[in-house]
Amino acid sequence: MTTVLAIETSCDETGVAVVRDRQILSNVVASQIATHQKYGGVVPEVASRQHLATINGVIAAALGESGLAWAEIDGIAATCAPGLVGALLMGLTAAKTLALLHNKPFLGIHHLEGHIYASYLSEPDLQPPFLCLLVSGGHTSLIYVKDCGHYETLGQTRDDAAGEAFDKVARLLHLGYPGGPVIDRLAREGNPHAFSLPEGQISLPEGGFHPYDSSFSGLKTAVLRLVQKLEPQTPELPTADIAASFQETVARSLTKRAIACARNYGLSTIAVGGGVAANSGLREHLTAAAKAHNVRVLFPPLKFCTDNAAMIACAAAEHLSRGRRSPLTLGVQSRMSL
Ligand code: KG4
Ligand code: ZN
Repeated sequence: MTTVLAIETSCDETGVAVVRDRQILSNVVASQIATHQKYGGVVPEVASRQHLATINGVIAAALGESGLAWAEIDGIAATCAPGLVGALLMGLTAAKTLALLHNKPFLGIHHLEGHIYASYLSEPDLQPPFLCLLVSGGHTSLIYVKDCGHYETLGQTRDDAAGEAFDKVARLLHLGYPGGPVIDRLAREGNPHAFSLPEGQISLPEGGFHPYDSSFSGLKTAVLRLVQKLEPQTPELPTADIAASFQETVARSLTKRAIACARNYGLSTIAVGGGVAANSGLREHLTAAAKAHNVRVLFPPLKFCTDNAAMIACAAAEHLSRGRRSPLTLGVQSRMSL
């Protein structure tokens, strides 16, 4: 058994968790959403300062809730990439300091590997190979999970991430930040077939379209044009119908790619991760399509889908049990492929 305390500060959540293999002993998240809401999005400098202000308290809370003493912790981990550089630095520096202070091994973990490991937290018996559909505010990827540390990205977005598209469309509909949950709620009251919106496709030089890559910036522009066209014509914008039609298009596009990918690579399980995994439209579409194609689909509970440190600790515990370590000279990186 390997017990890890991990820190996640890649964006706007200060997370610290203690995990033993795939079992959560504590998982504390101090969300900054309320702070960033007034700016309509995450302000990097504000995020770094807030991490600095809260991190010691969150570490103490996570260790306290786990009921463990430092002597019972086998390693300390932190997200090292990708993310906001200042924000990442807060967590990484705190983790290195704790590792030095308590004489523990240190591990830097890729944020997306953490999202993959969120599936193991809710499904401890899950074994690779499987396909991970990772849909968050920063990423939209189809990842072939072969083994711990062995991943192949088969598809990704060429522009906006799925969550980013939800946030941008919510902003242009004046619905506030973060946009995903608001659009999801509103979409339930709307007609998903009210407006026909274009699903972004990536053309291939040899003709046809890329089967797994996606694009959401054209869809966002189409919603903008629709709003500009409707605004002068209607006293009240049909926001529920627009939200439902937009969500339907995103859900259909992601489902089509994930199912094609799983079938072509002979993978019988799709594990969904990232904040957009919470989306009810995506859940409905993907669950129905997976059933039709005899593919198992796993949606971890929302608290594991959005950014948290338990998923980072879970990934780190497996690496540590395989004897892996990171040097204390490890830095952070805003971009880094898996
Ligand atoms: O994984 P996450 O917490 O952070 C990143 O690593 O990006 O994902 C946050 C993203 C935001 O863009 C948010 O709007 C989106 O996930 N999101 C949703 C829903 N809940 C959160 N998008 C669609 N429907 C939802 N219910
Ligand atoms: Zn994330």
